[in-house]
Amino acid sequence: MTDLVVRRLLVDMEAPIARHWCGGDAFRTALFNALSMSFPVGEQFFIDSVRNGFKALPPELQVKYQADVQGFIGQEATHRRLHALYNEHLDKLGLKNEWGPRAQGRLKLLEGVEPRHWLAATAANEHFTAILADYMLACPEFLGDTDARLRTLWLWHSAEESEHKCVAFDLYRALGGNEEWRIKWMKRITTVFLADAVRQTVNNLRHDGTLWKWSTWKSAWTSLFGKQGLVRLTYKPWRQYFRADFHPLQLESELGPQWLAANAAQFIPVRG
Ligand SMILES: [Fe+2]
Ligand SMILES: [Fe+2]
Repeated sequence: MTDLVVRRLLVDMEAPIARHWCGGDAFRTALFNALSMSFPVGEQFFIDSVRNGFKALPPELQVKYQADVQGFIGQEATHRRLHALYNEHLDKLGLKNEWGPRAQGRLKLLEGVEPRHWLAATAANEHFTAILADYMLACPEFLGDTDARLRTLWLWHSAEESEHKCVAFDLYRALGGNEEWRIKWMKRITTVFLADAVRQTVNNLRHDGTLWKWSTWKSAWTSLFGKQGLVRLTYKPWRQYFRADFHPLQLESELGPQWLAANAAQFIPVRG
């Protein structure tokens, strides 16, 4: 894995977010807004999982993984900070974040549970974010072109997700995490993640007054199941996680590094 660089993104998060910032498309806007709502709680959980997993490693393995863990925590901390600012704008638009508090409540069930379970749940979530990231980097038109700032934010986040996708997985393995629980957690996370994403997207559309518009459902269908649809193109890489010899590097893509190289003016590396 390449060294994980923490980057300060040069985007203005003070400027308000338009109601349909994603190319004027109500459905896609609602979907991305839903994902953003989940990040502050979710990414804090990933940070805690990786930090606690790291502490449980024997000293010689701590030396091996220290830089990766530091980079991972730095990147996720930056993501959650920017998405918290993003979400403040969504509050102002009258949208109600129910995903974050629901996830927070659910995480209470994991208190006191040993770090390998946290890491397996995190590795499963990281697989989701990595395949979503590769999808967005491959099909950036999905983000529309009406808000260059948010497009940059999502693609930067995607590039970094792709960069650090191995960290939780490798720690899980290093701690002797087994296949049975890795797969079990992926099944659980898939159900929970999809249900939460649908609920929050519907909720956002309801608050936006666009839930029952024909154009919303038409966009939902093409955005998810059309030729370039999100579900259609991510199904195969999602399935790969269930293979016994799976490792996140098998999904290695050059799109993240390419985006970072082409958009170096959009951020300042602060640590690497
Ligand atoms: Fe992230
Ligand atoms: Fe991540």
